[in-house]
Formats: sequence, structure tokens, C-alpha cells
Amino acid sequence: MIEIESVSKLYDGRPVVDDVSMVVEPRSIAVIVGTSGSGKTTLLRMINRLVEGDAGAIRLDGADNRSIAGYELRRRIGYAIQGHGLFPHKTVADNIATVPTLLGWDRPRVNDKVRELLSLFQLDPDVFGTRYPHELSGGEQQRVGVARALAAEPNVLLMDEPFGALDPIIRAKAQEDLLAIQKHFSTTIILVTHDMEEAFRLADKIAVMDGGRLLQYGRPDELIRQPATPFVEALIGASERPFRILSLKTVGEAVEPGGADGPPLPEQTSQKDALAQMMWTGRHAMPVVTAEGNPIGRVTLDGLMKRAEA
Ligand SMILES: Nc1ncnc2c1ncn2[C@@H]1O[C@H](COP(=O)(O)OP(=O)(O)OP(=O)(O)O)[C@@H](O)[C@H]1O
Ligand SMILES: [Mg+2]
Repeated sequence: MIEIESVSKLYDGRPVVDDVSMVVEPRSIAVIVGTSGSGKTTLLRMINRLVEGDAGAIRLDGADNRSIAGYELRRRIGYAIQGHGLFPHKTVADNIATVPTLLGWDRPRVNDKVRELLSLFQLDPDVFGTRYPHELSGGEQQRVGVARALAAEPNVLLMDEPFGALDPIIRAKAQEDLLAIQKHFSTTIILVTHDMEEAFRLADKIAVMDGGRLLQYGRPDELIRQPATPFVEALIGASERPFRILSLKTVGEAVEPGGADGPPLPEQTSQKDALAQMMWTGRHAMPVVTAEGNPIGRVTLDGLMKRAEA
């Protein structure tokens, strides 16, 4: 069990995690969602003390995490991040074997674990074990990153947008694999994502953060039935059916006259992705450009919301 109690973190006197409390039950998956910069990664890294908090306490099975040495904590808690962080000069097998070897497991046990994990992630150990990270696709690298985080059989796994770069089909497969593995090893997982569909697919409980504060923490059905704030409601809504329709249309079909600040969207971007980007970054409009980069107008949050409702 992970108990997070009134934790805060300040940078330059400003709270980026602000009095957050939540309990993650053993063998469950808690998913943290929220706008960019809302403190998700900081909160996650306070659990394994890659970031030291300024107030509050975090307990793992009742033990204050400050009572455990940092290196010991990070050995016991798996950590998988977007961009995987694989060692480029180690083979896939050696990457996965890193922590078990550090822990002094004997060779046969390490080898068995590597083969087991590669198989669980649908990567043939005889094909992939001897390859180097640069010889894998991005999706395969991400799976190896998650396999490596699981190699020492941690009770707790922290995952920071681990499937961020995957295309939707591979992503769905990786999510399925993760659920199977979580049951297999009875792992407690805290996962950060930008993708509400991923949150609903994986979460026992969802934590919604905004501006360092935890707006709501509850089961997915509780968030749908009783969103705590309009922000939570809007975020949840983005995963529902009317918005799916937007995934079939491009921003080129929704261009309005005028300009906007910020990074431009190519006209082939789906309206759903555009809406998601605006919600996550707090923009009310974004410029639209042709494939060649020529400006052709803008899309607005209001305009896209109206299309979703239509
Ligand atoms: N080492 C640091 N020094 C100063 N400010 C920091 C530091 N790390 C993070 N921040 C700030 O704290 C806030 C929260 O950052 P954090 O990385 O936790 O956000 P996030 O919710 O994970 O965002 P994203 O979705 O973009 O990954 C941001 O405003 C960020 O700029
Ligand atoms: Mg982050």
C-alpha cells in the first residue's frame, strides 16, 4: 500500500505539488492525469525520492519512505519513463538483467527472468535478447524499458507516460500486456498519462491534477457520475463518444479565419488531437498550416467543442 499524505513540493517558493493526499491499494493501478506542468512527474518522483518533498509524508506498507535509503528505494521500486532510458551499449537481455544482477541473483535465475519478461511482452527472447536498443523499433524499446523496470519483481512500479510514443494499435497491445503482467506479479502501479482512454482502460482509480492540486481521486465510474469540478468533467468528456467523431475529421475541415499564437497544427491533424492539445496546454486557439507550412487560419477550442456536440 502507498499512502501519500499532504505532500507538497515548492520550486522557487511556488508549490508545484500542493497538499496532495491519496492512498493506492496493494495490487491496484492508480493513473494520474492532468494538464502539462500540473505536477504529475514531480509527485511520482517523490515516491522513490528522486525528488525530496517539502511537506507531508509518503508511506510504503506503513514505512515512511525517508526511513529507507534512496538507492534501496529505487532498487525496490520499478521506474519506467517515456523514452525508456535503455543503456545503448548493452544488449536487450543485459538491459533487463541490470537490477537482478546488481541484486546478486545467480546467472540461471537472471536468464530465466529475462526470457520470461521478453515472452510476456511478446518479444521472442532468441530474436530480441541479443539485439541492441538501436536495432529495435520505438515501441519495442518502450516494452523493453517496462520489462527492465519489472525485472527485479518490484511490488511497486512507477510509470511516467511509458507508452507515450506508441501508435494506437501497439499502444492497446502494450496496455493489455501491462494488465496481464500486473495480475501475474500482483504489482501495485502508479502510471502517469496524457491519454484519457488509456486512463480508463487501466485505472482502478484515477487522480486528476491541475496546478499542483489533486482535484479528484476516484474510480473511473465515480469521475463520470460525479466529476468534482468542471475541469474534471471536460477532461472526462474528452474520452467519450462525441469526441471520437472528431478523431475522424481534420483541422483542415474546421479552419476559421484569423491567427493564433503557439505551435501550428498541420491541416491533416485530427480535430480530436487538436482539441486534446488545446485542453492540455490551456490554449483557446491554435494556428493551422498546410503540409508545406503555409498559414491558412486557426482552429478554436469553442469551434471544436461545438463540432463535438453537433
Ligand atoms: N527541478 C525543477 N526546478 C524548478 N521547477 C521545476 C523543476 N521540476 C519541475 N518544475 C516545475 O514544476 C511544475 C510541475 O512539473 P512536472 O514535471 O511535475 O509536471 P507534469 O505534470 O509532469 O507535466 P508534463 O505533463 O508536461 O510532463 C512545472 O511548472 C515545472 O516547470
Ligand atoms: Mg511529466
